[in-house]
Amino acid sequence: MKIITLENAAQIGEQLGRYYVDFVKAHPSCVLGLATGATPLPTYAAIVKAFQAGEVSFADVTTFNLDEYCDLPKENKNSYYTFMWQNLFQYLDIKKENVNFLDGNAADYDAESRRYAEAIRAAGGIDLQFLGIGRNGHIAFNEPADAFTDEPFRVALTQSTIDANSIYFDDAPMPHYAMTMGIGSIMRSKQIVLVATGESKAQAVKGMIEGEVTPRLPASVLQQHADVTVYLDKAAASLLG
Ligand code: PGA
Repeated sequence: MKIITLENAAQIGEQLGRYYVDFVKAHPSCVLGLATGATPLPTYAAIVKAFQAGEVSFADVTTFNLDEYCDLPKENKNSYYTFMWQNLFQYLDIKKENVNFLDGNAADYDAESRRYAEAIRAAGGIDLQFLGIGRNGHIAFNEPADAFTDEPFRVALTQSTIDANSIYFDDAPMPHYAMTMGIGSIMRSKQIVLVATGESKAQAVKGMIEGEVTPRLPASVLQQHADVTVYLDKAAASLLG
């Protein structure tokens, strides 16, 4: 793992946004794995700024999002579909048909998992995957578990995740289930960037980088990936030895 520690979240957004712009310019038909939550927002803002300055086009880019809530209408303000259109896609020239999400309201979750896995394979796999990390060490919605998962699946969210994300649910109960890419789907990405900002992530970051590889701290599996860059702010890096 390559570790880059910067002063704050804004600096990470600037630097990583620049990395994405250069990556898409060099690989205009690339496949990006994207994440939601507070962590990617500064990076997405930097990408939008560069797009609006005419520096880069997303016309041939394909995206796959990591996860989506179950039992929440796609149009709800807290769906990850809404999040991505509001914070990134609406500003870009990306084609709607090139944007991929898991369907959290699928009638058959197993069929939906297979559909998503196959769509990723058909696109040639993910070139560059963005990850945040949960306070409990989750990546996407792969919660601490007895074994690493592989393909996308439906997951029961843990109380830690429900506590962390329920702040956004002021008009509807927070869903307790989600569809998520599995650990295998994430690990098959050619390149991964993980961003962690804030003191609440410091313990999980320490475990991910310095701890044993265990499904009890899912992000620790990234130690076994050949091309991972971790961007930390000072607070998230504060417990590293
Ligand atoms: P956050 O979530 O970016 O909102 O902190 C990250 C995560 O839970 O993976």
